[in-house]
Amino acid sequence: MSERTLVLIKPDGVERHLVGEILARIERKGLSLVALELRTVELAVAQEHYAEHEGKGFYQSLLDFITGGPLVAAVVEGPRAVAAFRQLAGGTDPVEKAATGSIRGDFGLETQFNLVHGSDSPESAAREIALWFPGL
Ligand code: TYD
Ligand code: MG
Repeated sequence: MSERTLVLIKPDGVERHLVGEILARIERKGLSLVALELRTVELAVAQEHYAEHEGKGFYQSLLDFITGGPLVAAVVEGPRAVAAFRQLAGGTDPVEKAATGSIRGDFGLETQFNLVHGSDSPESAAREIALWFPGL
């Protein structure tokens, strides 16, 4: 059974020229790209995407960061794609939580600049895919 998840290569990943590296890891895992786009996200979409974090201390800097430069948005598909990409990404804090061998563990130092986003559940994936790729 196939599942879809929303992946973002955040502006730090684009700026650091890690797009190819990250896409290669997704493909090597056996996941498929269904949609892929380089874009700069509008504030309204960023607010909706991160609505669960509204009111938290890092919310405004997260919005500034995510809207601050081009990012890569992708829809990724495969068996257990949501969990599979979260495994590839590693935990939110790239030093304390992400294992070596994960994207964040291998390339990240700070939580805010943790390179990638992946939907945290199939329900979140459905909501986020509709937000980023309406009509897909
Ligand atoms: P969260 O949804 O908790 O993490 P994840 O991306 O692993 O699902 O948080 C969203 C993003 O917010 C996270 O990727 C980086 C940023 N963030 C901070 O800057 N500081 C924090 O303390 C947390 C928890 C998150
Ligand atoms: Mg999250």
